[in-house]
This record gives sequence, structure tokens and C-alpha cells, in this order.
Amino acid sequence: MNMYDIILKKREGGKLSKEEIEYFITEYTDGDIPDYQASALLMAIVLKGLSEEEIFDLTKAMKKSGDTIDLSAIDGIKVDKHSTGGVGDSTTMIVVPLAGACGVKVAKMSGRGLGFTGGTVDKLESIPGFHTAMQPKAFFKQVNEVGISVISQTAHVAPADKKLYALRDVTATVESLGLISSSIMSKKLASGSDAILLDVKCGSGALMKTREDARLLAETMCKIGASDGKKTVAALTDMSQPLGLAVGNSCEVIEAIETLKGRGPKDLEELAIHLAGIMIYIGGKAKDENEGMAMAKAALEDGSGLEMFRKLVKAQGGNPDITENYKLLPQPWYILEIKADRDGYISRIDAMGIGLASQHAGAGRAKKEDSIDLSAGIVLAKKVGDKVQKGDIMARVFGNTASKVDTAKELAEESFSISAEKCEPPKLIKEIIGL
Ligand code: URA
Repeated sequence: MNMYDIILKKREGGKLSKEEIEYFITEYTDGDIPDYQASALLMAIVLKGLSEEEIFDLTKAMKKSGDTIDLSAIDGIKVDKHSTGGVGDSTTMIVVPLAGACGVKVAKMSGRGLGFTGGTVDKLESIPGFHTAMQPKAFFKQVNEVGISVISQTAHVAPADKKLYALRDVTATVESLGLISSSIMSKKLASGSDAILLDVKCGSGALMKTREDARLLAETMCKIGASDGKKTVAALTDMSQPLGLAVGNSCEVIEAIETLKGRGPKDLEELAIHLAGIMIYIGGKAKDENEGMAMAKAALEDGSGLEMFRKLVKAQGGNPDITENYKLLPQPWYILEIKADRDGYISRIDAMGIGLASQHAGAGRAKKEDSIDLSAGIVLAKKVGDKVQKGDIMARVFGNTASKVDTAKELAEESFSISAEKCEPPKLIKEIIGL
């Protein structure tokens, strides 16, 4: 078998065999296939696509390229949650404590932000002392004792994906249904949970721009999960405008805490309760999705979700007092306001534009090695459909470097549109697949 023939076969629209896919993944992970050949195959895949069988084989090969985490040391059904990435998506910090407060075990590995999308690990690390690197034994112990843990993805989980994703990022080969679904699911299946909830975002701030593409991705990932014996459910949710109001790191931690106190933005609360409800149901703690949602709502209202968040922070070395004193979190030096230039209704807040603006303010990285300003970000004061008068504040941009905050303000300003006619906000939860 050789790489030239595999590239040629895919370039001509052929179907790769299980052996050819395994050969590519094993040899590339071991460093025996050069990046230029891997890039050529990735581009052929983007252009010609992968059949369902090829996607399953690719997922399995990438899962097998590293460790498979054995979570059997943790009692009960373990439920994982994954978002395909968006702007202002602080749901993990709300959903995981709510599900945990209702008895669901969550042993979650999360990622860092890249480009205009944020990552839960960066957000949690804005809590002083919070650590996300943990040895397996300590990780299992925490989930058994506390009920939940959120750590950073170890290098040993699906290393083939790690290497391939970095290459895709610089060769314009991210956008492919087969490559995205196998990349996400190889990591999820290797992470060892019994059931998986996927939050598949669609809109300008998501990988999938249309509902049809997002549905196809969700259906494919649910099928991959089921083929591995995991109950997999996907929620298709809006990412045409940012979720909630806060976009950044420490500001999203504050927003998650406020939501756990029942004072968060309504869209974020609605999504968090729905997702937590599904996790409670697939985690075997409720008879159906509706009962799960009622339990999640009760955990928000009685404060047990917030208490679980405090336990998570304490168990991972952070200061739980941050829930009562936000001054303990990194503070920005500069704050600039974006004001409406006319009367009307907000008709657009481009999620990608706000994500890029937040990245420019210092909250995100352009390259993996870049450092970030945990205090930087954007907090919206208005959402699509809101009425504004000339001079009203629509958003605040902040950070610690004046020039970066200035650029971010310009970018964020361009992300807003105001129309004279009244407009409806987009539907947040579009559909649930696999329940
Ligand atoms: N997230 C992943 O983990 N992989 C992709 O390919 C895209 C988003």
C-alpha cells in the first residue's frame, strides 16, 4: 500500500477501504507520511467527500490512534457534552453543574479556543487557581466524589486527530462533513462516556452556516455514536448571533454564575436548561426529556446547580468565593462603549464578527501558541429584535491593551445592523435529533 495510490483513488472519487484508511492514520500519526501527502489527501476528501462507511472507518482509526479512557472506575452512567463551537457559548459551565446536581456523572474533557471561537478550558482558567490538567486517577476520584469534572483534553486521546486538525487548520480543509464528524466523534468515543450530548451550532458564528448542513453533521455524528454503542443525541442550536450577552473568558464565567443564580440572559438559561434536561434523561435520572428539564430548572432555582459549580471550582484548585466576588477574576483596564447611531430595531449581530472582535481585544488566539488576555471580551447590551434609540449602548468592549480594544470596537461596530422595521429574534433551539 502506498500513499500516492490512496491520494489518486480519492482524487478520482473512489471509495477508500478500511485498510487504506487505517494505513493513512497509523503511518501519519507515527510520522511516516509527510504533511504534503496528508494535505493532498485531505483536500481530495474535501472535494470528493467520504461515504458513511469511510467516515465510520476514519473515526475508528483515529479513536484507535491513542488511549481510550476507561471510565469504569466511576459508578453510574457517565454523560459527555460537546459543542461544535460558537461565540459566547458558556453552556458547559452551566449545564454540567445542573446535570451534576441532579445526580448525573460528568467526566468531561474540553478544548481551548482557537480563532473566533472560545474554549471552555480557557474560560475556566480565568478562575484564579483553577487547573484543568489532571492525572486519570485524580479525575476519576473527583467524578466519584463530587459528581463532575472538566479537564483539558490529554495529548494521548486521538493523537491522529490532534495532528490532522492542526494541518487542516492551515490548509483550508476544515470544512468537510466527513472530516468534522470523524474528528469530533473520535475524541468523544475515546473519552469513554456512556452517552453523548452534542450541541451542533448553525449560523455565521458556527462551522455549519446553514440548518441543512448542521442537521447532516448532527445525524452523521449520532449514527457514529450509535455504531459504537453510545446513546448520542444532538441539539441543533442557533449561532447567527452570540449566545447570551458575554463573549470572552472571565466575562463568560460571570455570566455562567449569574445564570446559575437565575439572573442570566434568557436565551442562555433556556438552552442550558434544555441541554441539562437531555443529559439528565440520557444519564438515567429522569423518565423523559421533560422531566429532565423540570429537574434542571429546579436545580437552578434552589441553588443546587450553583453549589455544584462551587464544588467543581474548589475540587480543581480554584477559589469558590468568585461566585460572590467577581473582583477576584481578571479585570480589564479599558472599557469602550458601542452606541446605536439611529433609532430602530437590532436586525443583526453577526456572531462571527463579534467573535473576531473579541479575539482582537485579546480574548482569543490566532495561533495555538498565542497567549490570551483573560479579562478581554465583549458584553452585549442588546440582542436581535431589541428596540434601540440613537445613543443607546449596544455593547461594551474591554481588555488590557488600548490598541487592541480600539480595533475590536471597530470590528464589533460593523457586526450590528439596525432596521426601521420590527424584527424577530432567531429561533434558538431548532431541533433535537436522536432522542
Ligand atoms: N471541532 C473538532 O474537534 N474538529 C473539527 O473538525 C471541527 C471542530
